[in-house]
Amino acid sequence: MPKAASFLFPVLLITAGIANCAADEAVVDPWQEPVGQQPAVVLAGEWQLLHENTGVSAMHMQLLPGDFVLMFDRTDSGPSNISLDALSPCAVPTAGAGVGAVDCSAHSVLLDLRSNALRPYPLASNPWCSSAALLPNGTLLQTGGFANGDRIARLFSPSTGWVDLPSFLAVRRWYATDILLADGRVLILGGRRQFNFEFFPRDDVPQLTLFPFLDETTEMGAENNLYPFLHLLPDGTVFAFANDRAVVFDPYNRAPLRRLPAIPGGVPRNYPSSGSSVLLLLRPESPLHAEVLVCGGTPRGAYQLALRNGTFVPADRTCGRIAPTDANPVWAMEEMPMPRVMGDMVLLPTGDVLIVNGAATGTAGWELGREPVTYPVLYRPDMQLGARFEVLAGTTIPRMYHSSATLDTYGRVLVGGSNPHVGYVFANVTYPTELSLEAFLPPYLDARLDGVRPRLVQAPTEVGYGEAVAVRFEVPGGAVSGGPEEVRVTAVAPAFATHSFGMNQRVVEMTVGTMTQLDAGLYEAHVAAPPSQSVAPPGYYLWFVLHAGVPSSAAWVRLRPLGAAT
Ligand SMILES: *[C@@H]1O[C@H](CO)[C@@H](O)[C@H](O)[C@H]1NC(C)=O
Ligand SMILES: *[C@@H]1O[C@H](CO)[C@@H](O)[C@H](O)[C@H]1NC(C)=O
Ligand SMILES: *[C@@H]1O[C@H](CO)[C@@H](O)[C@H](O)[C@H]1NC(C)=O
Ligand SMILES: *[C@@H]1O[C@H](CO)[C@@H](O)[C@H](O)[C@H]1NC(C)=O
Repeated sequence: MPKAASFLFPVLLITAGIANCAADEAVVDPWQEPVGQQPAVVLAGEWQLLHENTGVSAMHMQLLPGDFVLMFDRTDSGPSNISLDALSPCAVPTAGAGVGAVDCSAHSVLLDLRSNALRPYPLASNPWCSSAALLPNGTLLQTGGFANGDRIARLFSPSTGWVDLPSFLAVRRWYATDILLADGRVLILGGRRQFNFEFFPRDDVPQLTLFPFLDETTEMGAENNLYPFLHLLPDGTVFAFANDRAVVFDPYNRAPLRRLPAIPGGVPRNYPSSGSSVLLLLRPESPLHAEVLVCGGTPRGAYQLALRNGTFVPADRTCGRIAPTDANPVWAMEEMPMPRVMGDMVLLPTGDVLIVNGAATGTAGWELGREPVTYPVLYRPDMQLGARFEVLAGTTIPRMYHSSATLDTYGRVLVGGSNPHVGYVFANVTYPTELSLEAFLPPYLDARLDGVRPRLVQAPTEVGYGEAVAVRFEVPGGAVSGGPEEVRVTAVAPAFATHSFGMNQRVVEMTVGTMTQLDAGLYEAHVAAPPSQSVAPPGYYLWFVLHAGVPSSAAWVRLRPLGAAT
């Protein structure tokens, strides 16, 4: 279509302009400037303050269907800054780490993204440093925690609030990781001094399975393998990364465990040397190929040096990328523009990765991080090595230990939390407890792109695997030529974000078939839903339409489990 050039041209110009600012490193090194100072160049992306005070510091964060964001903290750190509704039962936590015992404030709040309203929810037991996964039916399963919460599984939905399943877990789990498997079951793996895993639900499966890999990778004094990075691979097996090592295994023991090479450099990447990791975008043309990216961390010994000696060693600046589905996987190493520990890696609807939050020295743990890194970086997996990173606009709010980040329905990245102290401390400390919630708007939300930004006007609410479905969208400022790559549709699984890792984070691209113009600026694309439960486990996804690389806001689409009634 002839009109195509008229709107594609400005997009290219803007993209090139954004890239140039950051690439020109000789001009300025903005991320080395003190927090709060404006860099001399205009970096892409924008920060918005959604709430100055959400009442609870967002140690854990999960986007839920219906456009809610659940944020919760420990219950034993003293009162939060939001009281429970008078009609709600008062939470009575047992003693935890010595601060406060009983309080009637809320340690969990739900944000309604559409109205920006907050609602407190009571928590009956302590979910401190816990794990979670969204079940295929849209209810959140959350597992473990501390003291009276360490063996509890909890279910949360906005209509029911928290429901405890007492003594559900076979063992105590603190700093474990949960992921949804292809069959819709949740794998609950590890935690402090737990070298094993279990499942939810647990009918027809062993109650507890030993997993020696966690024993092998733990270190005395600074475990460096907590909150292991787990990714479901598109063949149904699980990639597990702990410390500086990786394996691929089948939790049902149907295939032998495969050991992958250790990540070069010997730098631990898991708590408290917290780096982060994502499974890169899965493509419809190579459904069994997957790549994992691991970035940041701190050198071995950094935790003890910070804790015992007050020495805050520089964080690591490398990323390793590997295709665990290859016959002989190898790590390809690259460098971020700056070192980072406690960074959150967030998959964007484009398949690019945002790395945000964290510090340049020290480690995770109370009072052990220094030199906040307030500039996010964008990683574009498809660019040439050396050209993948771009430094984006910084925030003024340090997000240190116990901060979190997650993608929302509008394509923004919500950023909250940061509390490196035992209790809530707002004054006379270097990094006060943060109750604020910000949204980072990646460069694709720049108003200069509004002319090409698609608006999703119709999507199915539920689809079956491989089903061809129609998605309608409008492009306000011009026609769509239908050229290759110009229109894409991706499905993003909402992650459970805590301690620098987004559990269950996943972005699956779908094949776009025929596209029809229905009216001026109105199009219908035929899209093939993901092919299998191992490519995309059943449950709720955000479907984004992308036009010329610019995503729409998302629609919630439920992938129906195989065999389920329509
Ligand atoms: C939190 O609550 C305390 C006690 O009510 C109050 O002094 C403090 O100003 C509040 N802080 C914030 C950031 O709202
Ligand atoms: C979702 O599944 C869980 C676990 O089976 C169940 O307890 C919960 O009630 C279900 N939620 C809905 C909304 O059906
Ligand atoms: C321990 O701290 C001292 C004083 O701050 C410093 O000189 C020394 O280098 C530190 N030790 C190590 C191993 O970094
Ligand atoms: C902070 O320190 C100042 C000066 O020492 C003191 O007056 C003030 O009370 C302290 N504030 C808090 C909340 O501890």
